Amino acid sequence: MTTYTSNWLSPSNIALVKYWGKKPEQLPMNPSLSFSLKQARTRTSVSLQPLESKKFSFLFEGKESPFATRIAKYLDALSIELPWINDFSVLIESANTFPHSTGIASSASAFGALALCLTDLNRQLTGANPEEEKFFQAASRFARLGSGSASRSVYGGFAWWGKSSAMPESTDCYAIPVSKYIHESYFQLCDAVLLVDTKTKKVSSSAGHELMNNHVYKAARLTQVNQTIEQALQLMKTPDERMAFIDLVEQEALSLHALMMTSSPSFLLLKPGSLEIIEQIRDFRRQTGLPVGFTIDAGPNIHLLYWKEDQAQVHAFVKSELLYYTENGEWLDDQVGDGPIKE
Ligand code: PMV
Repeated sequence: MTTYTSNWLSPSNIALVKYWGKKPEQLPMNPSLSFSLKQARTRTSVSLQPLESKKFSFLFEGKESPFATRIAKYLDALSIELPWINDFSVLIESANTFPHSTGIASSASAFGALALCLTDLNRQLTGANPEEEKFFQAASRFARLGSGSASRSVYGGFAWWGKSSAMPESTDCYAIPVSKYIHESYFQLCDAVLLVDTKTKKVSSSAGHELMNNHVYKAARLTQVNQTIEQALQLMKTPDERMAFIDLVEQEALSLHALMMTSSPSFLLLKPGSLEIIEQIRDFRRQTGLPVGFTIDAGPNIHLLYWKEDQAQVHAFVKSELLYYTENGEWLDDQVGDGPIKE
């Protein structure tokens, strides 16, 4: 029996407009918009070998990993659609290009890379040869079933996931690339990740999404986020509205945290260091007039957003004012990236 392999390198992404809350089958309650990162990526290799006693193995950075159970369940669920999964021993090896346990969501890049391998293997095994756009839509849908935000990690530049009247071709099923709608100046956006606390999250993202089901502000959130994503898209069409863009993105990130704080049970994920960094960033913006701001995922780490042309000033600011509030002075510097690579 033949052996089949596929290797992909897929980026992590950072959402400017956040997916928060889901409908059944991992469909999003609201549309989200993100950019893929250049440095933070996962490299995955999937090999299908003749079926032996060992049905499945998953090694992360060369070692057994607790993530294996989640991957095994994911493959089991996908085997309904990709029945060949049951005909082979599935051996997966995966590694991140960024330091492990930094509090950076690696599930997006992990499921992005794995879904690309599976879509590629499906092509090899079934002889189906979808055009490129359909190939990535299928990969995005498979990625979504592993982790919602991973649906956006199969593209470079900017990606949009979730049905919205502001983006006619958008759908809840998979993410779409939207770089063509965005002004070229936005491809110079950088993301300095300030690692305030790298310990395990207090709330898993699936538990977090669940909090939206009966949230007292659910209706207001859905109205607000649909307006926010439409405004973000408008602002990103020109190079001139960076300050308004930064204000909007900050408001969106704080809305996510406001929702967590006011949910039942309530979660307070920001740390004193996170708040200090937020204040410092806003002071720096007031003093310099530079379009510098932040976004935050469901954790305490602050993503400092800035433009490449301001890098020297921003790096000096990070080193002199912000690293003090991070864990062991740790930070990662990243930027908009080109997307996945087949290796
Ligand atoms: O993909 P999940 O289920 O880990 O959810 C990600 C949620 C946020 O990171 C907070 C927002 C987003 O859109 O990435």
